Amino acid sequence: ARATVDTAVGPAPGTWGPDGVPDPLGDQEKNRLLGTSVSRVDGPRKVRGAARFAAEFRFDGMVYAALVFSTIAKGRIMKLHTAEAEREHGVVLVMTHRNAPKLRALPLWWTEGKSVAGDNLPVMQDDRIHWNGQVIAVVLAETPEQAGHAASLVQADYAAEPAVTSFDQAKAAGGEPAFHYGRLLKTEIHDAEAALAAAPVKVDEIYRTPRQNHSAIEPHAVTLAWSGDELIVHDSSQGVVHAAWSLAYAFGLSQEQVHLSSPHVGGGFGAKGLWSYHILAAAAARISGRPVRVSLTREGVHRVVGGRANTEQRVAIGARPDGRFDALIHTGFCGMSRHHNMAESFISSSGSLYAAGSFKLEVRAAHLSTMATTFMRAPGEAVGSFGLECAVDELAERLGMDPIELRIRNEPDKDPASGRPFSSRHLVETFRAGAERFGWSRRGVTPGTRREGEWLSGMGMATASHGYVRLPGGAVRVTLTGHGTLAVDVAAHEMGMGTETTIAMVAAERFGLGLDQVKVRYGDSTLPGEILAGGAQQTAVVGAAIGAAQRDVVEELIKMAGHGSPLAGLTIEEVGCADGGLCKLGEPDRFDSYTSILARSGRDELSVEASGAPSQEMTTWSMRSYGAMFCEARVNAVTGEIRISRFLGSFDCGRIMNAKTAASQFRGGIIMGLGLALMEETLFDERNGRIMNPNLSEYHIPVHRDVPEIDVIWTDIPDPHAPMGAHGVGEIGITGVGAAVANAIYNATGKRVRDLPITLDKLL
Ligand code: MOS
Repeated sequence: ARATVDTAVGPAPGTWGPDGVPDPLGDQEKNRLLGTSVSRVDGPRKVRGAARFAAEFRFDGMVYAALVFSTIAKGRIMKLHTAEAEREHGVVLVMTHRNAPKLRALPLWWTEGKSVAGDNLPVMQDDRIHWNGQVIAVVLAETPEQAGHAASLVQADYAAEPAVTSFDQAKAAGGEPAFHYGRLLKTEIHDAEAALAAAPVKVDEIYRTPRQNHSAIEPHAVTLAWSGDELIVHDSSQGVVHAAWSLAYAFGLSQEQVHLSSPHVGGGFGAKGLWSYHILAAAAARISGRPVRVSLTREGVHRVVGGRANTEQRVAIGARPDGRFDALIHTGFCGMSRHHNMAESFISSSGSLYAAGSFKLEVRAAHLSTMATTFMRAPGEAVGSFGLECAVDELAERLGMDPIELRIRNEPDKDPASGRPFSSRHLVETFRAGAERFGWSRRGVTPGTRREGEWLSGMGMATASHGYVRLPGGAVRVTLTGHGTLAVDVAAHEMGMGTETTIAMVAAERFGLGLDQVKVRYGDSTLPGEILAGGAQQTAVVGAAIGAAQRDVVEELIKMAGHGSPLAGLTIEEVGCADGGLCKLGEPDRFDSYTSILARSGRDELSVEASGAPSQEMTTWSMRSYGAMFCEARVNAVTGEIRISRFLGSFDCGRIMNAKTAASQFRGGIIMGLGLALMEETLFDERNGRIMNPNLSEYHIPVHRDVPEIDVIWTDIPDPHAPMGAHGVGEIGITGVGAAVANAIYNATGKRVRDLPITLDKLL
């Protein structure tokens, strides 16, 4: 499929090299693809149904798995009644802790190797229950229906033990220190409590956000088969190499013995890692000698895949009459299991957005007997921005100031918490551009005064922000062929966000080729790189590696070109890529094509594997994606019904690589944010810790009718210290949305709702 180039935006030229080292090959004027709007090259495959997902692969002799979930939160299995299920027609195996193979419990994320395990519990190795929903039996059968029916016949007798199944009960103990990526979630600068007490104007409020679960279009699934001691896996994965490593670890294999492929992913927002069902599928396949498919039901996704932790946040701001902050306090609790290490870091942005005189930021873990929580789009910031940005809105009203003006007055000149300079920050521009385009000046300053018939309307805004990361492990293999085409092989992931297209654009631009001359192969653990499609960093990781590979290719081609070449005598600094070959920079007529150089050297192809430079930029600078969210909400004064009538996201994320897919990422994040603001809530039966709404009829996410026209704009100012000048765009879209909606609803109604989701009952 040939990609279509819709419009040329013409991005400002930026540097390509990481950490400000200018890349002499980067600033080409020809073949300007980056920043234009390119449709997804994988789109037609998906529309035609030609793209295969994890649960669409099949092996000869494959059987289907159904899972049986525990119904207590904590205790022991005393007796398992499996005979009835085993007698059912078509049943091949009922696996429980009595007959499961010996397996190693996985290490937690970032603690050892490449684990992407959701928790570090042993999987089906003993009779212990750690959460309500834990898998206690796996039924394999010839059809999914047979497996599902037989699973319904498995019964268990338990010896329940006291469990902590309410957040209030968990918090009562005071919580424990919480960590994120191994970092203690606590920052104190000067005495914020004293400064708050002395401040003439202040807010001090509690904000609550509920547990949320993942609802990707494609529920989690895996299809796998053993071939001797090798395991072949079709997965839906955000980290193919990490998942292969993790599966190998559980079974005592080497990473190379697991070949995991995931060419298409039907949505991944942090939870397409490695969970118990992967390990159980491989274990059941080993015991039964049959290939196995596990395709989780929606209920299954809720019970055995982690979601976002609930939080209770105190936000207190002490200000002077002119609006300047003397104290910023953001503390509180997040729910956690004892078997993982990913606390919901709702303070991640709080030390970087406002120039306060003092800070007190802390997350404490309140331990519950529940399924481990995990990453969910903009972990921490999605919910932390709700508390912080509502509090800023509340303070603005108390000061009698416009909320945008209040934010601008507190704009810092360097990162207050880390003390580092900003690599590139144009947050104020996003306020101004967004306000202008949204018509912020038409906002009614007095809440509850704009009314048409039964409908009250109001506007609200909030700051959006998400930290920049570029993890190590970025590597690619590029292969230039004698036909002048380029293959890029990289263990990256296409989850619908445009990875394949954007990587092709980066490679095409760097090598001076057309998009249709570049072929990207990805989503397979045997490809180069150890890359996570997470943290909104995949494009930066891959782009930096492509830049390094291009250097190596050019260096090699100059050598191969020889004395007869128009390029003879030139150094790499003097040569660039354009029009399918190399030319002298500034002198395009001194040109030698790739095909000609390869042909003269008698080579069919030239292949190079390279890694991006280590990410010095992250330790030198304060780097974030920024934005401003603007919401217009209408609330029915009689019924409390809430309608979001307009929404605008104004972003500053460095250079935008592909205008079309970036806009879709922003919009997708905002839509997910509308769900966070108004609908999403995992409900637990606090008597036993069981999720009560593990389905899309009772766990609500926005549908088309809930989503207004969403306008997105961006600064498109490249960050000179980031590879390709780009910051992440995948996660920021959800941040700030909860607060923008809450602030708009307050402006419409005069009712301040501080616990999400904002459902109509809270407005009546
Ligand atoms: Mo994202 S929560 O890192 O998939």
